[in-house]
Amino acid sequence: MTMDTAEAQRAFRNALGAFATGVTIATTSDAEGRPVGVTASSFNSVSLDPPLVLWSLAKNSLSRDAFTAAGHFAIHVLTAAQEDLSNRFARSGDDKFADVAWHCGELGSPLLDQFVARFECRTRHEYEGGDHIILVGEVVSYEARDEAPLLFHGGRYAERRPRPTATPTPTVDTEHGRFGDDFLFYLISRAHFQTSRPTRETLAAHGLGMAQYLALATLSMEAPLTALELAERLAHTGHLPDAAALEEMASSGLLTQDGDGYDLAETGRTRLIETLAIGKAAEAELATHFTAAEIAETKRVLRRIIELSGGDIPMGWRDGAAAA
Ligand SMILES: Cc1cc2nc3c(=O)[nH]c(=O)nc-3n(C[C@H](O)[C@H](O)[C@H](O)COP(=O)(O)O)c2cc1C
Repeated sequence: MTMDTAEAQRAFRNALGAFATGVTIATTSDAEGRPVGVTASSFNSVSLDPPLVLWSLAKNSLSRDAFTAAGHFAIHVLTAAQEDLSNRFARSGDDKFADVAWHCGELGSPLLDQFVARFECRTRHEYEGGDHIILVGEVVSYEARDEAPLLFHGGRYAERRPRPTATPTPTVDTEHGRFGDDFLFYLISRAHFQTSRPTRETLAAHGLGMAQYLALATLSMEAPLTALELAERLAHTGHLPDAAALEEMASSGLLTQDGDGYDLAETGRTRLIETLAIGKAAEAELATHFTAAEIAETKRVLRRIIELSGGDIPMGWRDGAAAA
């Protein structure tokens, strides 16, 4: 087969593009210790024992000398949310590492903080491969995370859509009263417990518990309320601020008290807004690990679950007003 026309080359490239791959960033350091990296989809596994991987680097790459001289490299399998980073590392010569979180690995290659899988490798072989060099590395350490990978197919980025498994695995062992970690209700509860941790920690740092927080949130929507009315509004949460807790909040300046009625004091409102901001910031950080499509789909599924499991919804949860 000849590749003597641009058209023939394009057709060959298109045929190769039929093979769907992940996307990686390969990194190393140059003679001055500066970080170097390129986007590479040619990564693949070679051997389990010894653990070997390979990828190929274009001979005209500006990073070629660094990769061949260093004797080590790191491979980062990118997450679905790292398309911009992939594009950045695919542009020759740019300051690719600006604003990218990384640290130096044990062999000297820069290790990026975000990835689905990361392999630190000592270069074992270099093979001639036409207009590329084939680098084979022995993996000295690796780390993998349960995140959606970025894919590349037909010259475009793509996202994984797993096929449903033919036989769903049983999630609840009724005989022993146990459930597996793919039991949806377990996942929803645990995700809530873990994602609300920054909020709980912020409150604890101010000497407040969930009951006090919910009192602040409820009073921000409806005030004044008596201790009894607050208890009614919060009964479903299992977090009830008792009379002593409310008086304590009033005396520490979080609430105002007029007769039996409690209302938010300015300090209480500030504390509530600060706590909500911590939750928002945690959500924004979490979102960096997912694509916009994944977030939208997760919200859609959760809204549908809420709709289907509806029934008698306590006031605090309505219209997204819930504070926890
Ligand atoms: C999805 C994708 C996959 C790529 N795969 C490879 C690859 O496997 N090997 C390679 O040498 N270049 C690959 N490239 C191109 C390099 O990332 C690009 O040429 C880069 O600019 C080289 O950087 P440098 O010249 O600064 O070394 C790929 C680019 C993209 C967008």
